[in-house]
Amino acid sequence: MVNETDQKNDTMDKKGITRRKFILGTIIVAILGAFGSLLSLLKVLSPSKKGSGYVSTIDPGDVLVYATGSKIGMEIKASSLDTGDAELVYPKGKSSNPANLVQLIKLSESNFKTPTDIKLTDKGFVAYSAICTHLGCTVSWVKNQSSPDASYTECFCHNSIFNPSRGDLVEGGPAPIPLAQIGVKVNNDDTLAFTGNFTGPIGPQV
Ligand code: FES
Repeated sequence: MVNETDQKNDTMDKKGITRRKFILGTIIVAILGAFGSLLSLLKVLSPSKKGSGYVSTIDPGDVLVYATGSKIGMEIKASSLDTGDAELVYPKGKSSNPANLVQLIKLSESNFKTPTDIKLTDKGFVAYSAICTHLGCTVSWVKNQSSPDASYTECFCHNSIFNPSRGDLVEGGPAPIPLAQIGVKVNNDDTLAFTGNFTGPIGPQV
């Protein structure tokens, strides 16, 4: 027969087990919470992954259109650019993908040197990704009025400089690699079209 004292002890034991389970559960939840916070912090502190999110959808034959200015969305004409000029362009109908942003440049044909892929140029037109390979800012064009072929591309976020007549090699600043070239050709109707996709990685590479 179970007396009253035994019953009391039994109840107290069960309460002790329940309390221990509760404390253990609380500790596990706290550890998991701290681990989650640490992961979140590491994610924030980490630099952007190489090329993360930058996947171009440009196809051969896509026509180039203005990406900025009053003519945005309109087809660009080859005859509208003089030597030393450049425009930011998109493939027609594909402007919603920022990875498709390209800088179209007009230089003297005789000015191109390696590693520019001459086969991917036409009538002095050459094109490169407009997304800086450092941290992904859009690059700008710096025109040299007195010597148009000496014009160059610069990213004003951290002052990386690229040489468009030499495959957009990095000539200054923190950008780790050149801006990738992409083939262009002049069509019979004076519009321009892409002839393929980028020859190298695009987007941030650090
Ligand atoms: S993002 Fe272009 S130089 Fe830093």
